[in-house]
Amino acid sequence: MTAPLIGIHDLAVATAGHVLELDDLAAATGVDPGKFHIGLGQDQMSVPGPDEDIVTMGATAARRIIDRHGVEGIRTVFFATESGVDQSKSAGVWVHDLLGLPSTSRVIELKQACYSATAALQAAAGLVAREPGSKVLVIASDVARYELDSAAEPTQGAGAVAMLVTADPALLSIEPATGLHTAHVDDFWRPNDSVTAVVDGKLSIDAYLDGFVGAWDDYRAHGGADIDEIDVFTHHQPFTRMAAKAHRRLAEHLGTELSEDRYLRSTLYNRRIGNSYTASLYFGLAALLDGDDDLTGKRVGMFSYGSGSVSEFFAGVVQSGYREHTRADETAELLAARTRVDVPAYRALHAAAHLGSRQDVTVPAQSPWPYHFAGVRGRARQYSADRT
Ligand code: CAA
Repeated sequence: MTAPLIGIHDLAVATAGHVLELDDLAAATGVDPGKFHIGLGQDQMSVPGPDEDIVTMGATAARRIIDRHGVEGIRTVFFATESGVDQSKSAGVWVHDLLGLPSTSRVIELKQACYSATAALQAAAGLVAREPGSKVLVIASDVARYELDSAAEPTQGAGAVAMLVTADPALLSIEPATGLHTAHVDDFWRPNDSVTAVVDGKLSIDAYLDGFVGAWDDYRAHGGADIDEIDVFTHHQPFTRMAAKAHRRLAEHLGTELSEDRYLRSTLYNRRIGNSYTASLYFGLAALLDGDDDLTGKRVGMFSYGSGSVSEFFAGVVQSGYREHTRADETAELLAARTRVDVPAYRALHAAAHLGSRQDVTVPAQSPWPYHFAGVRGRARQYSADRT
């Protein structure tokens, strides 16, 4: 008996309710806008309002999946993030409550910088292989926040991707071959007493590229497809030009030419959302699947990088009929629904992120999405829903 295909049955995205044009940031900081648009490959960044965080974005993305498929069969929720809102409780437990998921399920948060959604996806595939009728909800949700006026400031962003992992998936089957690379490096991290990440930018770029080549070599050593058998690529995109650097490094490593057409489409959403850490790679996948090119039967190579560092290269095959399940219009509406903020307003929102837990506070609902961070009561975070 052949094993069933396992992979991504549905995928939905969410982002924060405000948007900063990087042209405005360039004008305010005296930087040539070409540095942002060309040098970093970024046009905009999503900025969360006071009632938005990883829980509200994750719940909004997952809601779209539940609306299509219901909750039946979901026995596991993996919540991947590196901008956790509690040191103990999984952000997924709040999402579980907001969405009315079955009590007969396990919920857990995974952390390894931007990589952990890929660990969640692989673990989900393993669980579904053991029980092919079951479904796993994987949520990747992050807010990328750096110090104001730092080199990393234009690479902030926020977003979430939810994926339903099942047997006989409608979108993408995940192939078993995988390539791994772990190396201890202090390129990027966020200490427990800081709401912004600490980063050695140049070192992080080198660590990413080393991780990519290491994971690629391991992928090939473990039966992964040859470079000519991979039709399109998507990468973790801390800023979209990083995908160009990765693509070029792989070409050099293999001593071959690799056309940029093989990844360019994957950058379209990330250019407008900014870094969404764990979700970034999967925004790249969403952009590929939502594009005009018919990818039926094509192999998508996927590179996941989490600073510190853990890397994985793996691939999936786009399923026939996938276009009936993609969401280009919905995502276009989502991006258009964000409220544009100017630089002073963005800076005020950045400062408001420093909310502690020592004082009770009520946060009014403002964002256009159905779920809201409602404040702190008795040191516990509160959430509200416009709908369940
Ligand atoms: N027109 C066109 N291009 C321009 C330009 C202009 N006017 N001015 C500058 N550029 C180009 C530069 O030549 C440079 O290109 P190359 O990369 O090809 O050299 C590019 O714009 C960036 O310029 P700088 O190198 O001067 O940029 P910087 O020192 O200000 O910082 C950065 C860039 C290091 C990426 C910084 O934004 C940063 O620290 N970001 C956060 C860290 C990060 O994203 N690291 C990525 C790997 S780690 C990871 O992937 C995990 C994660 O999610 C964080």
